[in-house]
Amino acid sequence: MPANIVVGTQWGDEGKGKVIDILASRADVVVRSQGGNNAGHTVVNNGEVYKLHLIPSGILYPNTLCLIGAGVVLDPKDFIGELDSLAERGLETLGHLKVDPRAHIVMPWHIALDGLSEAFRGGKDIGTTKRGIGPTYMDKYERCGIRLFDLVHPEILAEKIQTTGKLKNKIITEVYGGDPFDLDAVIAEYTEYGKRLLPYMDDVSVLTFEASKSGKNIMFEGAQATLLDIDFGTYPYVTSSHPLSAGVCVGTGIGPKEITNIIGVAKAYTTRVGKGPFPTELDDETGDKIRNVGGEFGTTTGRPRRTGWFDAVIVRHSVRVNGLDSLAINKLDTLSGLDTLKICTAYKKPDGTVTEHFPPALEELDGCVPVYEEFEGFNEDISQCRTFGELPENCKKYIARLEELVGCHVSMIGVGPDRSQVIER
Ligand code: GDP
Ligand code: IMO
Ligand code: MG
Repeated sequence: MPANIVVGTQWGDEGKGKVIDILASRADVVVRSQGGNNAGHTVVNNGEVYKLHLIPSGILYPNTLCLIGAGVVLDPKDFIGELDSLAERGLETLGHLKVDPRAHIVMPWHIALDGLSEAFRGGKDIGTTKRGIGPTYMDKYERCGIRLFDLVHPEILAEKIQTTGKLKNKIITEVYGGDPFDLDAVIAEYTEYGKRLLPYMDDVSVLTFEASKSGKNIMFEGAQATLLDIDFGTYPYVTSSHPLSAGVCVGTGIGPKEITNIIGVAKAYTTRVGKGPFPTELDDETGDKIRNVGGEFGTTTGRPRRTGWFDAVIVRHSVRVNGLDSLAINKLDTLSGLDTLKICTAYKKPDGTVTEHFPPALEELDGCVPVYEEFEGFNEDISQCRTFGELPENCKKYIARLEELVGCHVSMIGVGPDRSQVIER
């Protein structure tokens, strides 16, 4: 009963969707356990591009059961949009997609408050995706959230929208000077969403447990990434959930003993969308080149991604906090054509000491300077390579040193966006 977790090891967009899609071909069940439609996962199959936000990347296989666990925050409007766009492309979801009744619902005031609070922070905004993720998790922990169970029960939904909505309208108008919501209209709109979602509701904790006990191959699809984790990321420039491997258990409702293998996904360089520290960021022509060659523009918001060298300090941190068994390194092909490649091996602190560990606070990270090791680049087109042996010598050296620096075996190398463009070791 293999149960694999796939997690992001940097600031997101490492190509988790592609890795999940490849591994999902061998899986019976694919489970999402945290985050919401702030995620954007791209799957490319024979030139056909699918961009998924809430629905697990296993959905492209008709016999794979796709589950959305209790720890996910679900925007019903976007979710239905995703169901419809898959249906238009001939992909049926009913029957092999289930959502846990405990999953919290993103309400329209969450989206409004995400925008209003970001604007209120002025220049100190987080640069969120403005999908209402933070405010929905706030209500969950405040214990006043609306869950999928409520959404599909019109009387409960109406009562909860009236109570919570009144308070939200007060905050929106009196604190932020925004426009209130017409609660009757919200009740009408969300009741309709509830009707549509009812056939998708099922207890994901039970389904996952039963799948595990009957020897099924389970894949847990991480969204966001380690450096965006609310505790172990670059707080406060993080998301509001636990994208770590440990988050899978609480977000699905299964015990840690069910997990057999944990795979981290990284790019061969680093990117970040949104604000916050990025020690190896390249604010120059090389950074632009990586952005353009790699098509580094956000899947969810379309924002240009910030680009920089591979940072072994952050991936080493991810190897530790996730307990990684192996790494998938994507987009090695993007680095072709650069004369020199660099890897950050450690940070030099303002007092002259050197650390190999990612500092717990931004104030400590301030003034840290990356220590780099340089490598000769490669010019070959590697997109057709399918074995490690076929890679140019300089690529092999780069990967071997990267493995050594982060302390983890590289089991997969991405050489292009398509499902087939991968080297497995
Ligand atoms: P995710 O959020 O981690 O699933 O990643 P995204 O889908 O947001 O971003 C990764 C981008 O890189 C997508 O456009 C993928 O199609 C693309 N991609 C993934 N792996 C590779 C690779 O090995 N090479 C290239 N050139 N592109 C890749
Ligand atoms: P995937 O799954 C990259 C970032 C946002 C912002 C911060 C907080 O595609 O890797 P939020 O809307 O979550 O409150 O925003 O987190 N962020 C992501 N960056 N990939 C993602 O998901 C992200 N999800 C959130 O840009 O900096
Ligand atoms: Mg993404």
